[in-house]
Formats: sequence, C-alpha cells, structure tokens
Amino acid sequence: MDYKAQVTNSILSVLNDELSSAEVYEKLEKPKTLAMGDLAFPAFSLAKVFHKAPNAIAQDLVEKIDQSSYEKVEAKGAYLNFFLDKGNFSNEILNEVLEEGSAYGQNDSGKGGNVPIDMSSPNIAKPISMGHLRSTVIGNSIAKLLVKNGYHPIKDNHLGDWGTQFGKLIVAYKKWGNEEDVKKDPINNLVKYYVKFHKEDKEHPELDDEARETFKKLEDGNEEEVFLWKWFRKVSLESFNKIYEKLGVTFDTYNGEAFYNDKMDEGIQILKDKGLLVESQGAQVVKLDKYNLNPALILKSDGATLYITRDIATAIYRDRTYKPAMNLYVVGAEQTYYFQQLKAVLLEMGLPSAENLHHIPFGLITVNGKKLSTRSGRIILLDEVLDDAIDLAKKQIEAKNPDLPNKDEVAKEVGVGAIIFGDLKNERTNNIDFVLEDQLRFEGETGPYVQYSHARAESILRKAGDIDLHGANKQLDDPAAWETVTALKDFPDVVKSACKDFEPSEIAKYALRLAKSFNKYYAHSKILVEDDQLAARLSLVKAVSIVLKESLNLLGVKAPDAM
Ligand code: ARG
Repeated sequence: MDYKAQVTNSILSVLNDELSSAEVYEKLEKPKTLAMGDLAFPAFSLAKVFHKAPNAIAQDLVEKIDQSSYEKVEAKGAYLNFFLDKGNFSNEILNEVLEEGSAYGQNDSGKGGNVPIDMSSPNIAKPISMGHLRSTVIGNSIAKLLVKNGYHPIKDNHLGDWGTQFGKLIVAYKKWGNEEDVKKDPINNLVKYYVKFHKEDKEHPELDDEARETFKKLEDGNEEEVFLWKWFRKVSLESFNKIYEKLGVTFDTYNGEAFYNDKMDEGIQILKDKGLLVESQGAQVVKLDKYNLNPALILKSDGATLYITRDIATAIYRDRTYKPAMNLYVVGAEQTYYFQQLKAVLLEMGLPSAENLHHIPFGLITVNGKKLSTRSGRIILLDEVLDDAIDLAKKQIEAKNPDLPNKDEVAKEVGVGAIIFGDLKNERTNNIDFVLEDQLRFEGETGPYVQYSHARAESILRKAGDIDLHGANKQLDDPAAWETVTALKDFPDVVKSACKDFEPSEIAKYALRLAKSFNKYYAHSKILVEDDQLAARLSLVKAVSIVLKESLNLLGVKAPDAM
C-alpha cells in the first residue's frame, strides 16, 4: 500500500502533464507535524509553468482535487496538505501488519545476494574488547537487516589467530606458564605471560630471536608449537563463546587469519603479475598515490607477511566462495585508513567484489567512564559487564514484578538487551560512554523501555482474552491513535533505510518512537471497553506488539511477553 502513489495520482489528475508522475512523487514531503497533514506537495515548481504565485496555484489545485478519499485536503501557503482518511488508512495498515506478522516490512531488494560480514574478530589469547563487542552487536544487527531486505549474509568471525606474537606467547608459556592456570583462567594467564615476555625481552633481547624461531617452527607445522597454538586458540574461543552465548550471537564461519596462512601466495602472485608490487627499502609495497594514500606494505624485507597480506587472501577467498553482492567489514574507526588501503589494493588487483567493499566503522566505547581494560590491575572481562547488567535487571524486576515466574530468564533478556540497545541506539560512528544504570532504566531511551512497552501490549492482549481480530473492522478514527498508526506505516521504509546506511540506530530510534507514541495512546485511551472500535483498538495493540518485537529482533534484542 503506497499512500505517496495515491496522493501523486490525485495531484496528476488536476494537472495537464506539467509534471511527470515521478516528479510529483519525488516532491512529496512529510510535514513536520501531523497537524499539517500526512503528506504535503509544494507548489513552487509550478510557478514558472503557470506564471502564478505558488500560493495561488496551491489554492487552485485544492479546489479541483477530488477529496472524497481523504479526510481533507487543504492549501496552506504554497503547500497542498493531504490528510489521509484515518479510518480507511488504519484499517489497511492494521490488516497488513496482522496478516504478515513478523514478516511485515520484509522486502526482496537484495535478491538473495551473498554478503559476507567480517565481524567481532577478537584476537586469540587476549580479552575480547568493548570494540569487539560493538563489532559483534552491530554486525549481528546488520546481518538481520540484510535478511529482512532479501540478502543472504554470512557472518564470519575473522579471529586474530596468527602472527609473530604467537612465537612470543609460546616461548613465554614454556618459560613461565603452567597448564593448570591456563585451564582455570585462560585469557588472564595468557595475557600475563605475554606481558612478562615484553618486560623480560628488554633485558634479554635473545628472547626475541627465540620467539622468531618459535614462530617459524609454528609456520612450518612443528608438532609441539602447533599443539600449543591450537590449545591457546581453543581455550580462548571457549571464553569468547561464553560471551557470544550471552549476547545470543552465532557465526557461520570462524575463518581467522590462520585459515589464510597457506592461501597468501595467490594474492602476492597477482600483485606481481600486474606489476603492482614494487621494492621499497628492501620491502615489497603497492603504491597508492592515485588514491591519495600511502603505499601499502605487503611483505617485509625478510619476506614475512602482514595483517594486510592475510586480508588480501581473505578477500580473494570470499570473492571466489561467495561471489558477494557486498563485502562488509565491521571494524572500529581506528582502522579506517587501513581499509582504504586494502580496498585500493583490491581495486588495483581487479578483484570483482572490491567495488562493493564497505568498511563499516564505529566509535569508541567506555563503561562508566572507564576504558574496558583493567580494574585494580586485572582485566575486566566483558563477561562481567554483562553479568552486572543481568544483576541490575533482576533487582528491577524483583521490585516491579515480584511474582513473575521466569525472573531469571527475563533478567537475562533485559540485562543483555539493555547493553545491546544502549550501544545500537547511537549512531555507529559516535563515541559512547556507557553508564550501566542509565541503560537499565525502564523509562527513557532504553532497551528495557521498549521491551516494557512490548510487554504492556502483550498484557493488554492477555486481558482481552480470545478475540478474533481476523476480518474484524479495523477502522480506527481516534486521533490519539494516529501517531501510532503512522509509525506502523513507516516501518518498511525504516527497514530499507537502516540497511542501506548500515545503521542499526535507525531501527532503535524507530522502536523508541513507536513505543513512545503507543504509551501516549495507552495513557489517553480506554482500550478494553466494549464498543464498536474494540477490535480496531486491539488490532492496534497487536500490531504494535508485532512491530516492537520485530524491531528488537532486528537489533538482536529479545522481547519477553511479561516483565
Ligand atoms: N582482529 C582484528 C582486531 O582486533 C580485527 C580484524 C578485522 N577484520 C579484518 N579482516 N581485518 O583489531
């Protein structure tokens, strides 16, 4: 149902081809307030054609237009303001939402195209950072938005599991490590060994030689080194998975940097064949003057490969495996320059999907004003932040709804949801400071507020009992409901726009808008009174519940039915 098309036709019917249908459609605006109507047509562009003032043109047109399918059409200054017929409009929208359920807003513009998303991608033997959390939740939401827009996302966790640092770690472990400690608390202990290595190697530079030899052994597949590396990787992943589980995020592949270790020759060969690889102070670089970028270092003078060498192999692999419609990298803004270089190198190589490579950057995050690194000398695990949020949610639920049967489950959904929503409601590139208590409030611009609004809608429906809404008349002409009805109408557009901009915050802001308008309506109106609009009002409540739940779902946040 396209109201812009309906209004376009009304305008065309009183013109004589002065404007094309597309031109009229393009010019339609959404007025700032509902008091100015639902759609407005500015008459300025007709002034030249009619040799008349725009205000007079608006006045002429309004007299000619057939108003029968509108509540009213009025001329205000140079604008024609269209007020849609609230009853018919709500009937159509509510029927559409109730019929389609969670599929409402779905479109197939992606035509099933594959979209690998490089996301989360923490480094083995190091704690997962707040940056990795952002990458995880932003990537997860973008993946859901892609599905909703008809794409086929492939969520790839590009683990940092290769590089010379593993030589250092293995040496350090063999000197100062012990198996029990690593088993008990893998990340903290592995970091401890690594830090100790860096302290010691200042006085014992021979340690660095040892580390280099050890990494070489690892690269050559030497049994002991490979065994240790695999073990570090496994225990690290186990600790990451605890966090992913809490966040409710899964991945399709975990092809980390090590996966590409034996796949780098091809990329290097292409660069050589195309004459792109040139020597600079013994190292091999690709010049990127044409892109106004510094040369990209591809091979060190000793032949060692780098982060970018593995990323080139990764891009070739994804290109071949998925024939991607788009290639997405959800990685912090601090790597923006790096991804510009990577894209430029891939464009030079002529990789088909290079044109559609998008780095999706995001800003920094701090928790309660602190960088997530150390608390009294110890690493704060993200895990603990999530647990703190769950505890806080539990306290709120105990206070508000002590008889709720599945309190623990709901506390988890609310606590974790608060963190995800608190992140995603901000434009990606903003830096954010996270005050846990604020994000957990049931009022204000928070996840719990949206969840609570959804639970409120569900509770009204439970109270109403079994009423068959299918086929019921859903003509709702109550002006207090109008803001909510128009918000429902906008959902499919928001779904498209958020996907196009890779911007989950558009969904979060939309969910807040819908929740707010619904709560205003709820405060205003008696919903459960027996009159001829009862089914229409309940349909509105049901539609709000469906769309709030689906909005939260697109963010990766659960929507409990009671809280
Ligand atoms: N492991 C990297 C880091 O923590 C992020 C990897 C991003 N993905 C990529 N293909 N480079 O900084």
